[in-house]
Amino acid sequence: MHQDVQEILFTEEAVDARIREIGAEIARDYEGQDLLVIGILKGASLFMAELVKRIDMLVEIDFMAVSSYGKSSESSGVVRILKDLDKSIEGRHVLIVEDIIDSGLTLSYLKNLLEQRKAASVKVVSLLDKPERRKAEITADYLGFSVPDHFIVGYGLDYAERYRNLPYVGVLKPEVYQP
Ligand code: PRP
Ligand code: MN
Ligand code: MG
Repeated sequence: MHQDVQEILFTEEAVDARIREIGAEIARDYEGQDLLVIGILKGASLFMAELVKRIDMLVEIDFMAVSSYGKSSESSGVVRILKDLDKSIEGRHVLIVEDIIDSGLTLSYLKNLLEQRKAASVKVVSLLDKPERRKAEITADYLGFSVPDHFIVGYGLDYAERYRNLPYVGVLKPEVYQP
């Protein structure tokens, strides 16, 4: 375990097992349909890569990169698109892949945006959910785990761009972000 991590919430094995379950559920639900899976960079990158391998059908993948304005450790709700989708999604079933739903502002913005672009359906899969912090009314259609209101890092989640590549989900020691 990294020295800045206080506690491991979900080991690599636990995350992997849950991703297999979610992947199977998604494959069942979308059987016989065309599906575009959209990973939201950068946080969702690790989850996205593992998840699409566990969806036992051919899917198309794309990515969006977004960042909220004036971000420190909290979302502002205003989302800036740094990288958009490559193609039109009109009439297509899309699945947004996120690492965590915190205030929900990023996802509610993105979901609205993709709905406005006339997707046939827009669903959300998130590895983690922090329901205590919700500001926007949004829930994941598929969820890995709920987490308590602590600073979570690893498996794609960062603090100041660090810790993303930790292979587990953990709680950051408060002294790391409280000067
Ligand atoms: C984080 C996280 C989610 C979002 C959740 O992304 O990956 O995308 O915040 O917060 P919210 O529910 O309060 O909107 P961030 O903006 O830090 O960018 P990153 O994925 O590149 O780390
Ligand atoms: Mn993100
Ligand atoms: Mg971040």
